[in-house]
Amino acid sequence: MVSERAAQVLVASNRGPVSYTLREDGTLAAKRGGGGLVSGLSAIGSDADSLWVCAALGDGDREAVRRGTGTAGVRMLDIDAGVHADAYNGIANSVLWFVHHMLYQTPLEPAFDAEFRRQWAAYETYNRAFADALAAEAAPGAAVLVQDYHLCLVPGMLRELRPDLRIGHFTHTPWAPVDYFRLLPDDIARQLLRGLLGADRVAFLTRRWADAFAACAVDVLGADALDGTAVGVHGLGADADFLRERAHREDVDDWLVRLRERVGDGRRTVVRVDRTELSKNIVRGLLAYRQLLADRPEWRGRVVHIAFAYPSRQDLAVYREYTAAVRRLADEINAEYGTDDWQPVLMELDDDFGRSLAAYRMADVALVNPIRDGMNLVAKEVPVVSDAGCALVLSREAGAYEELGADAIVVNPYDVTATAAALHEALTMDPAERSERTKRLAAASTALPPTAWFLDQLAALTEG
Ligand code: G6P
Repeated sequence: MVSERAAQVLVASNRGPVSYTLREDGTLAAKRGGGGLVSGLSAIGSDADSLWVCAALGDGDREAVRRGTGTAGVRMLDIDAGVHADAYNGIANSVLWFVHHMLYQTPLEPAFDAEFRRQWAAYETYNRAFADALAAEAAPGAAVLVQDYHLCLVPGMLRELRPDLRIGHFTHTPWAPVDYFRLLPDDIARQLLRGLLGADRVAFLTRRWADAFAACAVDVLGADALDGTAVGVHGLGADADFLRERAHREDVDDWLVRLRERVGDGRRTVVRVDRTELSKNIVRGLLAYRQLLADRPEWRGRVVHIAFAYPSRQDLAVYREYTAAVRRLADEINAEYGTDDWQPVLMELDDDFGRSLAAYRMADVALVNPIRDGMNLVAKEVPVVSDAGCALVLSREAGAYEELGADAIVVNPYDVTATAAALHEALTMDPAERSERTKRLAAASTALPPTAWFLDQLAALTEG
């Protein structure tokens, strides 16, 4: 049934633009999320015409749904908490994320057993809930933009319910190469691909991921798999206006003073900011920094590694263990090399965007060394807000490499020794060259800001 507030443009994603927390006095506090998708969608028109469908993610969100405390333009789906946990933690984050980022340690995992099948059923139920809601909310012929690996089955399900819609899907992760993708059970691989190919158009952050998807589709489903579905590339860029304004607010200036004090006069900084995420390769980054201090004693006392590693997916044991390993290694380096007036690694584990921006502004070197990454916006944000120019050490496995590789110092993320050498090269880069490169990096990073990124996709979908 098509509801009254039939929307013309719909976005669907697991995490929505707003989240609620339950205060002690029983009232609800709404927090608007940041990020590219949020600013992109806010550009598309009045709330009456557009709708964002997302999952209720915690007790606050669920309570908001129960009380009908809506945010205009947003519909939260109160999916059974157990179903959501199996779909999100079990399938999306422990299987699909692992496949596309190639994170399995294959002698032991994956083992696709009965538990996996049970979780897969939950993934189907969760995708079905989105498809049903979108089918109910969309106006005739509306455009629906489904986001990410959580919702791979939605396009196919929605196509069956509503053949009139224009359906797009955007993948924000990498896409696995054929041999790795085929770790998945054959029927699941087919179902995933058929789900996505229910869309009129699927899109990716880089040509590399788009090509990998096309290769998987042809390998698993046959030569005509892509007939009827266009494959596009939209390299999401940084939002220069937002970042430059936000990076000069009072809280950031205050953090800058505090961080400079903690770093100490005259010292250089190597900065990284990540979710504590397996694919971000934080441990090898710390190992490289340790090797720099070991091999080049001249840096002892003269550099500080600011490493902000914010909590992520802590429901998963492997993420908790990784977080502990990151912390342990930072402590070890500090114990090994630290002196009374010099702390080699300055690590923070609680998320603060203002503090991150302060670190971006003061960075001499930004370290972005993921094992694999769909894009990596930190690599794009740092050059935009840098005060005095910043050298970028960048993994060739980050999507951002396609656009930024020419002006970065590029590393193989597994090569700790080469990463240590790259840090040295970055720290000693001639300031004039560094500043020129930073300007070019900033220009490349902002070529497709979130609003344009979103509108380009919408145009390609509706005109295609
Ligand atoms: C990646 C994914 C997003 C996800 C984000 C944070 O960027 O592509 O879909 O929202 O990570 O992860 P989380 O599991 O906290 O939503």
